[in-house]
Amino acid sequence: MAEAEASVRPYLEAVLSTILIKVSWRKSDTSGKRVKHRRPPGTTSVLFHKKTRELARQMIDLRDRVPPDTPETRLLRRDARALALEAPFDLVLTSPPYPATYDYLPMQHLRRVWLGDDHRDQERELGARRGWRAGNRQARARWERDTREWTRAVARCLAPGGHLVVVIGDGLTPAGEVDASAPTEAAAKAADLSAVARASLARPDHARGSVRWEHVFAFRK
Ligand SMILES: C[S@@+](CC[C@H](N)C(=O)[O-])C[C@H]1O[C@@H](n2cnc3c(N)ncnc32)[C@H](O)[C@@H]1O
Repeated sequence: MAEAEASVRPYLEAVLSTILIKVSWRKSDTSGKRVKHRRPPGTTSVLFHKKTRELARQMIDLRDRVPPDTPETRLLRRDARALALEAPFDLVLTSPPYPATYDYLPMQHLRRVWLGDDHRDQERELGARRGWRAGNRQARARWERDTREWTRAVARCLAPGGHLVVVIGDGLTPAGEVDASAPTEAAAKAADLSAVARASLARPDHARGSVRWEHVFAFRK
């Protein structure tokens, strides 16, 4: 019984995480403002039950769709700058934090309180917006250094001929835009990856009433 409980717990924690903002007084994932509301008693349990059933159905559906010999997915939580994997990989597909765009960890405050995460992660967050408040130049230099570090770590995990695909957008700060493309390409070059293809698109950023360039790059080892 205890064993079954332990294996199910991470899924139930994931369910709790999906409803946490909705059943709290936090305005949204991206805004920490408090908005009071009254929901009928039992709302949290009903939502929890619904979401658990939805997740279970999705897991069964996925199992039925993939070939029977599909290996189990392994989820690891690591600092990307220190990534070390035992087997070489054919593909790394990633979207690192866009520079100066979000403070991912403060955004997760409620989840950290409820799910008991490690607060020391704050220092490890890449490209955090709060860093840009302290000064544009240092934040940019730190983000560029971090970009070189995680790209090098990822390149080491690739098999020869393997690909790294990166989706990233430019930063929008009061002091101007932070170009994400040149540092991304420079970091790949420094990690001995060759450029295969790239594309960019200007997308409206409604929250900031502006336009943000987003890029996708493919590199090969
Ligand atoms: C643009 S989001 C992409 C999320 C992911 N691709 C997805 O679709 O769920 C960037 C993610 O990088 C995470 N991140 C920040 N610093 C990191 C680090 N040092 N190592 C690994 N991930 C980090 C953030 O918490 C955030 O979840």
